[in-house]
Amino acid sequence: MSVNLNVQEKEQYLNELIDLLKIPSVSADSSYTEDVHNAAKWVANALKHAGAENVTVEPTKGYPIVYADKIISDDLPTVLVYGHYDVQPPDPIDLWDSPPFEPVIKKTKIHPEGAVFARGACDDKGQMYMHIKAFQWMIENDKLCCNVKFMIEGEEEVGSDNLEDFIRHHTDRLSCDVILISDTGMISNQQPSITTGLRGLSYMEVTVTGPNRDLHSGLYGGAVANPINILSQMIAQLQDENNRITIPGFYEKVVEVSNEERAEMAKAPFDLNEYIESIDLADVHGEEGYSTSERQSIRPTLDVNGIWGGYTGEGAKTVIASEAHAKISMRLVPNQDWEEVGRLFEAYFKSLAPKSVRVDVISHHGGEPYVTPIDNIGYQAAHKAYTTSFGVEPFPERGGGSIPIVPLFEKVLGVKSVLMGFGLDSDAIHSPNEHFGLFNFYKGIETLPLFYENYAALFKG
Ligand code: BES
Ligand code: MN
Ligand code: MN
Repeated sequence: MSVNLNVQEKEQYLNELIDLLKIPSVSADSSYTEDVHNAAKWVANALKHAGAENVTVEPTKGYPIVYADKIISDDLPTVLVYGHYDVQPPDPIDLWDSPPFEPVIKKTKIHPEGAVFARGACDDKGQMYMHIKAFQWMIENDKLCCNVKFMIEGEEEVGSDNLEDFIRHHTDRLSCDVILISDTGMISNQQPSITTGLRGLSYMEVTVTGPNRDLHSGLYGGAVANPINILSQMIAQLQDENNRITIPGFYEKVVEVSNEERAEMAKAPFDLNEYIESIDLADVHGEEGYSTSERQSIRPTLDVNGIWGGYTGEGAKTVIASEAHAKISMRLVPNQDWEEVGRLFEAYFKSLAPKSVRVDVISHHGGEPYVTPIDNIGYQAAHKAYTTSFGVEPFPERGGGSIPIVPLFEKVLGVKSVLMGFGLDSDAIHSPNEHFGLFNFYKGIETLPLFYENYAALFKG
């Protein structure tokens, strides 16, 4: 089988995606609530139009989950497609070259055929929509060879709080042989890769409180603890001079990757200069003893995502703030446990505080890390699909990001996920000017039916 979309199909599918990208389905910001619900309805309609059955918009305590399926035979394997229709907030909005919810097509150096610029273009509307169109293509061309179920959620960007409950209550409805997800990336358009791991996440927020009100920094300065100074000192102590995390017990459960596997990983093409240039850096930075690709995939990290307090308005104001705050996330690797790491963080962070301040720590959300072996038929079906459609073999690649629901799928449903991502690191997900290459969008739609074909054949044995 070979899938070649014709010009009309390409134009049609792109216009549909543009329509979806116009809906500002930002799950983190309640002022977009109606839009998030509208995106769910839009996806449900698209699934109906594509030929899916039993399409439902399932309410949750938060945003709905769109379910649909097409069951053609008990003898065939069942593929569960997961994706998300919610997007990250577009901020900082001033740094966008065009409005985030008014999609435009522009050519770039990496995407000479053009890319669609909009929030969610790559993460994950564009990638999720490839699955709906690939499904439609298989139906229209009489090539559907697996049962298919879709579960598209609207809370991925805020931690998928209600999804675990949903899958626990619908284990029968969601029963499947493999889970297929396009919500990651690949090395380049010339060199595809398959994501074989995701990092876990433990997301904390800390508050340091000093005096009961903001104080004049002349009258009180020097004699009371300044919460912002203290917070900065505490954060500075979380990493040592080798950029290793100092939290006692943090590395205890970390599975060290063998030198053999590290050597294997080092064979994947990675150009450090290109990397440095692409984000305008003078040099890279990270844990001693590990390469840049290792630092962003097989090693755990700790990052401050935001820090605030005191006066940040125009001009100068002399003040000692009453409170200082920071949001701190840790990326985790096998076999770290996100709740345990959160507890270790809290105990250590509080131990760093002088008596002159109070420290409060809360945990926002988290998720476990995930790795998938490459000897299962899901991986092999994906490998063969990329090889056919790109003409080169894909590399296995451990990813640095997190999709907390993937390890939960394994725990609750007992099913492994195959991560067929078509985005590029340079697509600026979560950043201003997010985009998705048209080549990538169409290539994804053309590659996915090959996965189904290969999977059905391997499943039969
Ligand atoms: N699609 C991303 C995760 C991703 C991107 C994994 C690229 C690998 C490569 C997902 O939407 C995401 O942003 N996840 C969050 C975690 C979530 C709990 C908010 C992340 O990784 O920060
Ligand atoms: Mn995503
Ligand atoms: Mn995301």
